[in-house]
Amino acid sequence: MQTLQLTNDVYWVGALNSTLRAFDIVFEARFGSTYNSYLIRADKPAIIDGVHEKFTAEYLSKLQSLIDLKDICYIVVNHTEMDHTGSLTSLLKEATNAQILSTKTSSLFLKNILYSDYNGKVVEDGECVSLGNKQLQFIHAPFWHWPDTMFTYVQEDAILFPCDGFATHFCDERLFDDRVDDFSEDFRYYFEHIMGPFRKKVLEALDKIKQLDIQMIAPSHGPILRTNPQKYINTYRDWSTPKPPQNKKLIVILYVSIYGNTKKMAEAIAKGASTVNTEVKLMDVSGISPEHIRSEIESADGLLFGSPTMNGDAIKPIWDMINILFSLNIKGKKCATFGTYGWSGEAAKLMEDRLRGLRLNVALPPLKINFIPTEDILKKCSIYGYDFAKSLTSF
Ligand SMILES: Cc1cc2nc3c(=O)[nH]c(=O)nc-3n(C[C@H](O)[C@H](O)[C@H](O)COP(=O)(O)O)c2cc1C
Ligand SMILES: [Fe+2]
Ligand SMILES: [Fe+2]
Repeated sequence: MQTLQLTNDVYWVGALNSTLRAFDIVFEARFGSTYNSYLIRADKPAIIDGVHEKFTAEYLSKLQSLIDLKDICYIVVNHTEMDHTGSLTSLLKEATNAQILSTKTSSLFLKNILYSDYNGKVVEDGECVSLGNKQLQFIHAPFWHWPDTMFTYVQEDAILFPCDGFATHFCDERLFDDRVDDFSEDFRYYFEHIMGPFRKKVLEALDKIKQLDIQMIAPSHGPILRTNPQKYINTYRDWSTPKPPQNKKLIVILYVSIYGNTKKMAEAIAKGASTVNTEVKLMDVSGISPEHIRSEIESADGLLFGSPTMNGDAIKPIWDMINILFSLNIKGKKCATFGTYGWSGEAAKLMEDRLRGLRLNVALPPLKINFIPTEDILKKCSIYGYDFAKSLTSF
């Protein structure tokens, strides 16, 4: 596939990666992905974003089919992640008259990405740069999903270029949302995993684009959204808006247990926690895919993690659960850890350390019980659950 015309002067010049199955190693890309870059053929031609280094040669030849690279006046770096800047060093060698437009944060990042002095201009939030017959307007959108991100808007074409915002890992060379196959599930997966941890920031930037006339959203991955773009904006708003607080606090207890000892603790903790006005979900997570409990974890007010100690560590299924927290909106949630052990008992403390590192709020010290808990010990576990539930209602 060569290039694709979006409007009179705007062209897609990106790359298709149909064989990719995981993006940034950890994110699913069932149908591959695309690296979308755009050329604006204005009086002063500009390029928006770039492609992964692997696709540089085909990218440059696509651009050359439309423009003499020496004529490019601006290269907009909406975000410096290497899936968009991998081709930049090579492009700059050819586009010798181009100036890079970016946020201050991006300009700092570029120092250690390009490793050479470059002709750059920092653009402020709301600033416009003239292309002669068109204007580029910049809207800072920090943490969509890096701190450096901005959107670019072209009023004359009513196109928003939001970089990774509204993107989808979905490779279909027909590119326009009305031509490609159904990508709604992948659009949602992308939002949840990439933007999900930054919902507050998503809302802040959505407020800034409220007044813009947007007829097309041209993101950096996947389909270009031209059928009712407002629908996608509303969807992002809806997914990012906090749900109204429930009457009852939700406590989710995730545990694993080989011989049933930690399970007994988990049940006693759940019993104690339920005596306060809370809803408690108790889940044995061995054999459960962490993907299935993302929404439970996100909607929980408090999280408890239980594992026995095995060879000085907690067991894999519980680490698998903890390992997805980085892609969830969980900072500040109350948590605690527990588990039974035989001789050294490291599991509960190791889990707590990790949760602290992820900036959860540890409500109680780890609860460790040696081997099989007695009835008296189970009462202690029940009180632990009660105390944990109480900590959710006290300020
Ligand atoms: C393969 C294996 C390795 C273990 N390694 C440790 C260990 O390193 N330190 C420790 O304190 N207990 C260790 N234990 C003991 C368990 O933590 C203890 O029996 C615990 O109560 C089991 O809990 P569960 O019934 O919830 O599985 C080990 C147990 C097994 C089966
Ligand atoms: Fe990115
Ligand atoms: Fe990206």
